[in-house]
Amino acid sequence: MPARRLRLAPSLLSADFADLAGAIRAVEAAGADALHLDVMDGHFVPNISFGPALVSAVRARTKLPLDLHLMIERPLRYLESFRQAGGDTLVFHLEAKDDPREVVRAAHRLGGQVGAALRPGTPFAEVEPLAEELDQILVMSVHPGFSGQKFLADVLPKVASARALVDRLGGTADVSIDGGVTDVAAVEAARAGATFFVCGNSVFGEGSVPENLRKLRVAVEDGAARAVR
Ligand code: DX5
Ligand code: ZN
Repeated sequence: MPARRLRLAPSLLSADFADLAGAIRAVEAAGADALHLDVMDGHFVPNISFGPALVSAVRARTKLPLDLHLMIERPLRYLESFRQAGGDTLVFHLEAKDDPREVVRAAHRLGGQVGAALRPGTPFAEVEPLAEELDQILVMSVHPGFSGQKFLADVLPKVASARALVDRLGGTADVSIDGGVTDVAAVEAARAGATFFVCGNSVFGEGSVPENLRKLRVAVEDGAARAVR
């Protein structure tokens, strides 16, 4: 089986908001594969982060793919604005108030890639009927809303189920893991079949960005090489 592409996506939520341009330059220079942007509306999650204006400011600074994690109650209302702002992948939550199938269709109509995210407590079965139409399945390993939380290892079986399903469908969808992804957790997620790793504090927290990304890269390659199949 050809090696799967493993991608690291630093989450800007953990960066210094007063120096996002500097954060973007740092992760680009260190070889990040995408940027993950956490949009929070204060309803779907208790926190409020940023909206389309910030996404377009980021878009103007980088050619990296922008992975938008929409932690918002009404994704349908905002898909177009976020797509126009420059989002490449629009990742909505299955637990949001809009019909998931309609969200997927609308995102595709806008020409974007589309992902569906599951909160830690949401059973994998919820995403199964949609899987064929998705470019990404995002398994949350913390309760959405804040960076810097501890990785919940009990979501790993969902990563494995997502991997098995994507493989069975013969698809190329990414299986993403988001929340508390340290280098230790990254090994386990990669072993379980994740291919897209969202990393906030493990990139922008302690240590230097290049060294942190290097450690994460080693971790995901190591995990993937020991993948459980
Ligand atoms: C949490 C967000 C995450 C977060 C990750 O709701 O979805 O993307 O920024 O940050 P860390 O890696 O620090 O948990
Ligand atoms: Zn996120």
